[in-house]
Parts: sequence; structure tokens; C-alpha cells
Amino acid sequence: MAYVCTSIRLFLVQVLILVSKCKAEVPAVIVFGDSSVDSGNNNQIPTMARSNFEPYGRDFLGGRPTGRFSNGRIASDFVSEAFGLKPTVPAFLDPMYNISDFASGVCFASAGTGYDNATSNVMGVIPLWREVEYYKDYQKKLKEYAGEEKANEIIREALYLVSIGTNDFLENYYIFPDRQSQFTIRQYEDFLIGIARNFIQDLYGLGARKIALAGLPPMGCLPLERATNIMEFHGCVEEYNNLALEFNGKLEGLVAKLNEELPGLNMEFADVYNIFLQIIRRPSTYGMEVVEVGCCGTGTFEMSYLCDPQSPFTCTDANKYVFWDAFHPSEKTSQIISNHLFKKGLAKFL
Ligand SMILES: *[C@@H]1O[C@H](CO)[C@@H](O)[C@H](O)[C@H]1NC(C)=O
Ligand SMILES: *[C@@H]1O[C@H](CO)[C@@H](O)[C@H](O)[C@H]1NC(C)=O
Repeated sequence: MAYVCTSIRLFLVQVLILVSKCKAEVPAVIVFGDSSVDSGNNNQIPTMARSNFEPYGRDFLGGRPTGRFSNGRIASDFVSEAFGLKPTVPAFLDPMYNISDFASGVCFASAGTGYDNATSNVMGVIPLWREVEYYKDYQKKLKEYAGEEKANEIIREALYLVSIGTNDFLENYYIFPDRQSQFTIRQYEDFLIGIARNFIQDLYGLGARKIALAGLPPMGCLPLERATNIMEFHGCVEEYNNLALEFNGKLEGLVAKLNEELPGLNMEFADVYNIFLQIIRRPSTYGMEVVEVGCCGTGTFEMSYLCDPQSPFTCTDANKYVFWDAFHPSEKTSQIISNHLFKKGLAKFL
């Protein structure tokens, strides 16, 4: 009996050591990107690309709109939670938080931005290069707060989550003539891949080692794109889905190359596309019902300020909807995607 107890105790101690070791291995989640992961930075800049008002956030902790483009939490929040960190990742520009919060997770993302500077100009939001400048500020503050050694450990061991690119195509290339007159779509993809490469090299140069680069979603299935797709009777726009797949292939190739070129880099391509499409094709498998339109308003064009708190059309249960507004997934979809990505790859960073 005593022997059994001792070995159980030993076992428990080992589990505890394992658990604490796991926790120490990803001390923070550091987020770059667009509205798929912006937790409120745009609230602090003059832009129309905002969502810090009702009905956004109605299922968030305390029913509070935060600037997340969701009825509740977004993918980066669920990833942070999966790593045993905070259930939400605070926005760097949000004055409600300071470096003691940011030490275990921080978000530099800005809704409406893209790899391309011209994309961030469309809505006057934070360009990707400036997200990196904010990250440099963060490093300074972290060193003052935690000390050089501890700060360097956080910087090295943190998971960097990057989710960006949809707007370069849907808000920029296909809307405005500038980039179309300069680049074919293939050339534009390669232009963006070049920017992605420089961006990752910059992060690596600043000390990042564990990076998850999310690919594009099936962007032809976003309600806004469906609504304008008269040709295919409001089905998914195959051209945009194929483009997303092609671009994702290039991102995946970039990830493989950078892992070879940069010693100590541990980078992962996070395939959002396939799990997202699976949810869209078989929503009932995931407990959802509505795929073609978002919950907010008519669900066909509303997002940001067009998502009207007074709209009589807004759904009552967003958990039944794959999309919250015409462009962004519901909290439930974000949760399913994040948990899937965690199990399929991100967990290796633990
Ligand atoms: C951060 O904010 C908390 C609560 O608002 C405060 O107690 C703490 O002193 C602040 N820390 C720093 C480093 O400014
Ligand atoms: C984007 O703008 C920044 C700041 O002006 C500049 O340093 C950078 O080279 C630009 N990126 C591209 C790809 O043109």
C-alpha cells in the first residue's frame, strides 16, 4: 500500500513538473494581422474599420463590445487559452491594459490591414510594418518591466500568431485598379509573399522563434462575396476559393524555406482553409445551421458600422451561424477552427 501511494505521489509530482514545464514553454501569445485577430487596436485610431459597439461583443465576457469583429471571442483568444494562458489577448493600444498584462500575450493586429501597404491605406488602418514598430516598443517595455533576461526568454519562447492577407485581395486588388494595373493576380501573390518573407525575417531578427502563419480562409464563401455572386446563385465564389488555395500553397512553401534558412526557427503553416470549408459544407456536424448569411442584420453585406444594433433582422442565437457578420466568423466557428489548429499543429510548440 505504502509502495502504491509513493508511486502515485511520484507520478503526481512528475505530472506537476510536466504541467509546469508545459506552461513555461509558451509564456505568451503575440499576435499580428487583420480583423481575424484584432482585439481592439482600431478603437484607438481614426478609421471606419471598427466594431466597438453593439451588437458586436454581445456574447463576450460581460456582453461587452471590445473591437473584436465577433459576437464573442476570436481565434487568437482561443489559441491563448489552449496554451494555458489568458482567455483573451489584449490589444497593445488599449489603454485599459499595461505591460503587466501584455507580458503573457499581446495583440498588434489591425482590422482592414494587409501585407501590402496599399491595403492598409484603404481604410486608414495600421500597416503591417507599423505593427512591427509597435512590437519593438513592446520589447523595450517588456525589458524594463521583467528585466533583460526574463524578457528575452519570453520573446524567444512566445508563440507568434500571424493571420493576414484576405484584405489584400478582397479589399484592395479586386476593388481598386492600382494594383491590377501593376500586377497580374499571380504577380500580386508573389509580391505579397515577398512582403511576408521580409516580415518573418524581421520577427526572427527581433528574436521570435516559434511562429504560426495562418493561411487564407475560403474567402469565396464569405457571405459578402456570396451576396454579390449572381453568376453562381449565391454559392461560394470558386475563383476566390481557388485563389486562396493557390496563395496558401505559396505561403506553405515559404514556411518550409524559412525553416531551412533560419537556424532555430520553428515555423508552422496553420491551414485555416480546410477546416473552415468543412464547417461550411457540413455545419450540422458542428451544431450549426446557417452558412450563407451572417447573423448580423440581413447577413449579406453588414459589417462594422453597417452592423446596426437596431436591425430587426439580427439573429438571436449566433451559435447557430457560421458567420457573425458578412465577413467574419461567429465565435463558435473561431473556437472550432482554433481548437482544430491547436490539435493539428500548434500544440507542438508546447
Ligand atoms: C498595470 O495596471 C495595474 C492595474 O491597473 C497596476 O496595478 C499596475 O501597477 C500597472 N503596472 C505597470 C507596470 O504599470
Ligand atoms: C511599406 O511602407 C514602409 C514605410 O513607408 C516602407 O518602409 C516599406 O518598404 C513599404 N513596403 C513595401 C513593400 O513597399
